[in-house]
Amino acid sequence: MCGIVGFTGSADALPVLVNGLKRLEYRGYDSAGIAAFDSGSIRVVKTRGRISELEHKLRQTPDFSASCGIGHTRWATHGEPTDENSHPHLSADGKIAVVHNGIIENYADIKARLIKRGYTFVSETDTEVIAHLLDFYYKGDILTALCKVMATVRGSYALGVLCADRPDEIIAARLDSPLIVGLGDGENFIASDIPAFLSHTRDYYTVDDGEIVCLSKDSVTVYNSDLEEIEKERLTVNWSVEAAEKGGYEHFMLKEIHEQPKAVRDTVSPRLENGKIFLDTDIPLELLSELSRIHIIACGSAYHTGIVAKYVIESLARIPVECDLASEFRYRKPIISKNDLCIVISQSGETADTLAAMREAKKHGVRTLAIINVVGSTIAREADHVLYTWAGPEIAVATTKAYSTQLAMLYLLAVKLASARGLISDEEERVLALDISHLSEKIESVISQINTLSYFASKFHNHKDIFFLGRGVDYAAGLEGSLKLKEISYIRSEAYAAGELKHGTIALIQNDTLVVAIATQAELAEKMVSNIREVKARGACVLTIASEATRDMLADVSDCLFAVPDCYSKFSPSLSVVAMQLFSYYIAVARGCSVDKPRNLAKSVTVE
Ligand code: AGP
Repeated sequence: MCGIVGFTGSADALPVLVNGLKRLEYRGYDSAGIAAFDSGSIRVVKTRGRISELEHKLRQTPDFSASCGIGHTRWATHGEPTDENSHPHLSADGKIAVVHNGIIENYADIKARLIKRGYTFVSETDTEVIAHLLDFYYKGDILTALCKVMATVRGSYALGVLCADRPDEIIAARLDSPLIVGLGDGENFIASDIPAFLSHTRDYYTVDDGEIVCLSKDSVTVYNSDLEEIEKERLTVNWSVEAAEKGGYEHFMLKEIHEQPKAVRDTVSPRLENGKIFLDTDIPLELLSELSRIHIIACGSAYHTGIVAKYVIESLARIPVECDLASEFRYRKPIISKNDLCIVISQSGETADTLAAMREAKKHGVRTLAIINVVGSTIAREADHVLYTWAGPEIAVATTKAYSTQLAMLYLLAVKLASARGLISDEEERVLALDISHLSEKIESVISQINTLSYFASKFHNHKDIFFLGRGVDYAAGLEGSLKLKEISYIRSEAYAAGELKHGTIALIQNDTLVVAIATQAELAEKMVSNIREVKARGACVLTIASEATRDMLADVSDCLFAVPDCYSKFSPSLSVVAMQLFSYYIAVARGCSVDKPRNLAKSVTVE
């Protein structure tokens, strides 16, 4: 997820663009840049680092003045944060500049074809392909060239384009990534999100998929993909600037919960083609087929995805999986052999315990695979192989969308391992891959029942002790549900394997104790009915998170019940966790907690 802005008017464009980018830093901040018309030609200033680095570089170019330009703040997906990988990207002759938010899934194929035609590339990004493709199609009309580019690329984009033959104009287009046009008086804007221009105007158009926009300071023209002019409804923002940064949501956490369907889709779809899974990392497939053991190492929520992965990988690929807390792994003299695989999972890629544990593992000569959300982070750079999740920047301390994309990535890996070891047929791989590809819409379905979950939160937000019970992957999901509740609502909570409760902890169950029973798996539902009866016999109140397949079996024994859609049973944590995220979120709100920045917590724990 990146931020793009554009301005054309009479004022000095550079400060307008920089301030707009600052308002979009929550969308990405590992590099930034500006392209603008200066004395008729396009001039670019861009840099790795925060927007303050860009300001520093602009101060070193005092002669740079412009009234029309585009800007970008990057969240790296293809290519580490470097000056060269920063946007804007230019065509070879410098006559076309592009900023992009999204992922061009077929960029490698297009890049190869352009190189064959003599084009040279200076960056590792997918975006640079667009700049050269526009040049390739450009025969004097940039709109026609842009239509051809849109017909060629596959993936998602919000584009801002400058063409030297049309000075003081901005061309923009959108598919699946947000793009908005700000309508000023003698000035107009494009942006990924409203905050970028809200201090200048509250009037705007939304740009829909497939539409192209041409802006000058006095006019905005919107075209459909056939380059026919279309009318757009003029809208007016009634949010504050601060609220607008959260897209109108009260908290970043709620916004990021709602971003999960897209984040999971962005992580999964580039790795699926014709029912086959393609892992975009250079681990030799034959190595995967010969693995004797997998060690999964992580902290917190990332560790919880590892517990889910243990069940899924062992069930599908029949490889023994050990899942360790990084802070424990590094000191327990782990037994690792050379043909093991060590998987480290981390949203930030900077967690000190996880980094240190990976370094400890590498001392044993074992191959390391990192599942990471931040391109170019320390763990990503030091691991032998990396699989990126594409959740985009996660601002709330309590992870939601990064956790969900880690799960999706681990499911893809588990299926690929099973396929590489000949344990599932091509058809079985296709069916499982299809199930994974449908998770994003099923997550959407859970989110659509938000009112039910906020109602449950209103009923239970004063409880002092809350237990999460489950079996198998439901137990693993409960670990995450319990952590979400603890870290944002400060309620004491514990996740327990339902079959283990009777071995001591059931002594804590008393009248009105709240138990959240996660029971999505048909094959274990009967056992969960017994466990629910056990705790109810001691006075517990039970909120059950079932699936459509188990809801009827659990309805009679539950005080409240919420059903998630059915899916391949081992993938159900992707759905039950969303219900628990929202349940915890609304409890924290009801308790007046600081949801996005809970006490004592940091987003990235870079110390031991
Ligand atoms: C999860 O909500 C917490 N913020 C925390 O447990 C987090 O998952 C853990 O610190 C690991 O962080 P990482 O994924 O960046 O390594």
